[in-house]
Amino acid sequence: MRIPLLAGNWKMYKTVTEAVEFVRRLKEALSGVRGVEVAVCPPFTALYAVARELAGGNIALGAQNMYWVEEGAYTGEVSPVMLKEIGCRYVILGHSERRQYFGENDENVNAKVKAALKHGLVPIVCVGERLEEREAGQTEEVIAGQVRRSLAGLSGAELAGLVVAYEPVWAIGTGRTALPEDAQQVNAFIRRLLAEMGGREAARQVRIQYGGSVKPENAAELLGQPDIDGALVGGASLKVDSFAGIVRAAVRG
Ligand code: PGA
Repeated sequence: MRIPLLAGNWKMYKTVTEAVEFVRRLKEALSGVRGVEVAVCPPFTALYAVARELAGGNIALGAQNMYWVEEGAYTGEVSPVMLKEIGCRYVILGHSERRQYFGENDENVNAKVKAALKHGLVPIVCVGERLEEREAGQTEEVIAGQVRRSLAGLSGAELAGLVVAYEPVWAIGTGRTALPEDAQQVNAFIRRLLAEMGGREAARQVRIQYGGSVKPENAAELLGQPDIDGALVGGASLKVDSFAGIVRAAVRG
């Protein structure tokens, strides 16, 4: 049984004060919710304060990026050791905004995935096609390349323990969601690829999320698909009511 993971990607939103206030209210809103895993991924500046607020509870903490080296002269970067020390469980890697604005590619993502696993962090590895690629019928080819390169060199056991987020770039922040059957088709395709790479057992265990304009209104249908094991939520994770609504939809899904 794969436990769905609902992760809030806050992007560059919320000060420390806002973040702490938010998770206080989220804890209340989700008390009593069972059968799903919930994580929030605040900006780096708020991670430590949010970790303290979440301590002892069942909402997990994630970061939105990291560098692959443990320490060194890398101005502006944050290492896996630092994230682990403050209590992060997850780290989002290869988000399309990092690929688009900060020059990340599958090779960087692969180095980051390996470093995250080495330090006991669970990577949430993002893949997704752009609109022109979908319209040109290249979705599977693009996804296959991203998955193979980003996850190259991992064992079946390592693949089994990570999270892949399928996020079509045209659906991120646009209000335009993939149809549940289209998202299901891509997620099932990713699972087949992972079976080729790491064996059927790894593919059976790995969690594959959907992301891109997930809202309380569309979450149940998306999360009800057999190969969609949760969601990576951007905009709708910034409000307690909408994020809690998505989590409840997953409980029903
Ligand atoms: P969105 O973002 O939910 O605002 O579309 C998703 C993401 O970027 O992870």
